[in-house]
Amino acid sequence: MAVIALKCPQYKVTLVDSNAGRIAEWNSDRLPIYEPGLDEVVTSVRGKNLFFSAEIEKNIHEADIIFVSVNTPTKMFGVGAGMAADLQYWEKTARQILTCSDQPKIIVEKSTLPVKTALTMERIVNSDPDGLHFDVLSNPEFLAEGTAIQDLSEPDRVLVGSRLTESGLAARQEIVDIYRNWVPEEKILVSDVWSSELSKLVSNLFLSQRISTINSISAFCEKTGADVARVAKAVGMDHRIGDKFLKAGIGFGGSCFKKDILNLVYMCQTYGLEEVADYWKGVVRINEYQKERFVTNMLQAMFNTLAGKRICLFGFAFKADTGDTRESAAFYIARRLMDEQARLVVTDPKALPNAKIDLAGFGDAVEFERCPYEAAEGCHAIAVMTEWLQYRALDYQKIYKRMVKPAFIFDGRNILDHKALFDMGFNVYPVGKPALTHLHES
Ligand code: UDX
Repeated sequence: MAVIALKCPQYKVTLVDSNAGRIAEWNSDRLPIYEPGLDEVVTSVRGKNLFFSAEIEKNIHEADIIFVSVNTPTKMFGVGAGMAADLQYWEKTARQILTCSDQPKIIVEKSTLPVKTALTMERIVNSDPDGLHFDVLSNPEFLAEGTAIQDLSEPDRVLVGSRLTESGLAARQEIVDIYRNWVPEEKILVSDVWSSELSKLVSNLFLSQRISTINSISAFCEKTGADVARVAKAVGMDHRIGDKFLKAGIGFGGSCFKKDILNLVYMCQTYGLEEVADYWKGVVRINEYQKERFVTNMLQAMFNTLAGKRICLFGFAFKADTGDTRESAAFYIARRLMDEQARLVVTDPKALPNAKIDLAGFGDAVEFERCPYEAAEGCHAIAVMTEWLQYRALDYQKIYKRMVKPAFIFDGRNILDHKALFDMGFNVYPVGKPALTHLHES
């Protein structure tokens, strides 16, 4: 929305949220989330044509177009628990729009939702045949965290789905007109609502499937001595395949991938498509396996006991350039290491506040330290969880001196210079590549 405000000074954009504290943060000098470039965008348009407000009803009343981006977490109760999307906030919003409107409006679905959810919204807002008419459209968001401003400024495509009725098509044109302010015409795709909703889900499924594919091969490489990065490079140079999303690691995290796969799995089961459901379940299964395998490798390398050992986690965010820790593989790995009675020191340039919330229940088994050198002090091992660029540039000689020997590095993101670390004395365990170790069995 901040980018829309920036690119379209002729529109007034107001963001509303039921959490007044959050709105106050958005109105302050310290925005509540870290996203490269966002501060500059918000500062340049806030108070001009971008506003943040906790007055939801008044702003619904005044708006011509409403973008709905409420959260749709995985449902944790009742039918579909652990798989289906929890649509309670979505439905509440629909009812709130209906109550607060006295003129027709365009409602745009921005949250990633199971296919045909817009229909629920449409049924609620158009429930009175003699009442107002609302057009409900789908305009999925394809941005990735950490590159959001770039992704929005130069999108691969913008997708707008509507009903193919006269009023649906007119509403669709209004949304297309917003994006035409900066997105080339050929990159704006229009479709029916259902195809648009499904496209977003399937995009995330394809991306997560590529990660599980390469991670499954990383397990095979570790057993056979091949190097997964070399394999990925050779495979990715085939232009039919492409080189993106082929980095083996500790498994995908983030708020979208797992949730979206489970959503599709649940829908497939509802339609009796068991084989399709099983196929996609495999992507999640490999992701869980990759995290567990990482912990097992650590345990085996460190003489089958982690009890009382200090392990430093380099990074806790689910990926670099964000403070977001939702579904971060680091969280799972941290819990499993603590099951083994390891003591953890967590460091991360942006995610420590969220890490502290996530790990609040573990008492003094875990410490938090901003400086990576301090964090590694007295540790038996470092485990790289997030591919922050700054971790490449550290003085590992200095770190080595501060650690307990034999010192271990488990590079869960394959970002470090493994040979150089090995030459310094570290025992180095990358993902999907042979380990470099001084600990030869006699
Ligand atoms: C994703 C989609 O990319 C985006 O289009 C959609 O709108 C929302 O979901 P995001 O969750 O922000 O975006 O992050 P993404 O860059 O896709 O990374 C997801 C996870 O996969 C991260 O944990 C990342 O570290 C991991 N990943 C990514 C890999 O392990 N290997 C790769 O090669 C790429």
